[in-house]
Amino acid sequence: MKLYMIAIIAAVAENLCIGKDNKIPWHISEDFKYFKKTTTGNVVIMGQNTFESILGYIGKPLPNRTNVVLSRDPNFSPPEGVEVYDSIEKAIAAHKDEKVFFGGGASIYKQTIDLVDTLYITHVHETFDGDTFFPEINAHIWKETWREDHDGFSFVIYKKK
Ligand SMILES: NC(=O)c1ccc[n+]([C@@H]2O[C@H](COP(=O)([O-])OP(=O)(O)OC[C@H]3O[C@@H](n4cnc5c(N)ncnc54)[C@H](OP(=O)(O)O)[C@@H]3O)[C@@H](O)[C@H]2O)c1
Repeated sequence: MKLYMIAIIAAVAENLCIGKDNKIPWHISEDFKYFKKTTTGNVVIMGQNTFESILGYIGKPLPNRTNVVLSRDPNFSPPEGVEVYDSIEKAIAAHKDEKVFFGGGASIYKQTIDLVDTLYITHVHETFDGDTFFPEINAHIWKETWREDHDGFSFVIYKKK
């Protein structure tokens, strides 16, 4: 299956760590702003753990974006307006003509890195102790096309070669 207008967005430490105890193990406010700017007006597809983590952080779904949650839990009842699908294919099919971002977590990145053609990665220039990790970004597959370096982190866009 080849998909277009579909990207991954993630903040990734040097050791590929993305999370610990269902939270992000660092706080970079510029990265939250970058995530907001990049995804606003678009669709964010995420796993149930990530959605619950966001509720813990901001107390509501991501504003001004279509929140789509992947879950196989029949008892999961999200707030009004949040879409739930039990497969990635169904979630994508519901948003064929829109710009779609996979927003994590680890299980979703692992299942979608071969489907997307763009990666929006915030490289955090540190290693962290964690329990969830991003897949390897294979240099034979991914070409860096844009970079903005900051103190302690870099915003990078990769396109599939
Ligand atoms: N650094 C970052 O940019 C970033 C971004 C997002 C999240 N995170 C971190 O990542 C961690 C969470 O990752 P995670 O892997 O534990 O959880 P997750 O991917 O957010 O969510 C896992 C849940 O999604 C369900 N799911 C996964 N694939 C599915 C599919 N194809 N269809 C239907 N349901 C599906 C799983 O159901 P089953 O149990 O039935 O498989 C499970 O309930 C947290 O620490 C979070 O803070 C970091």
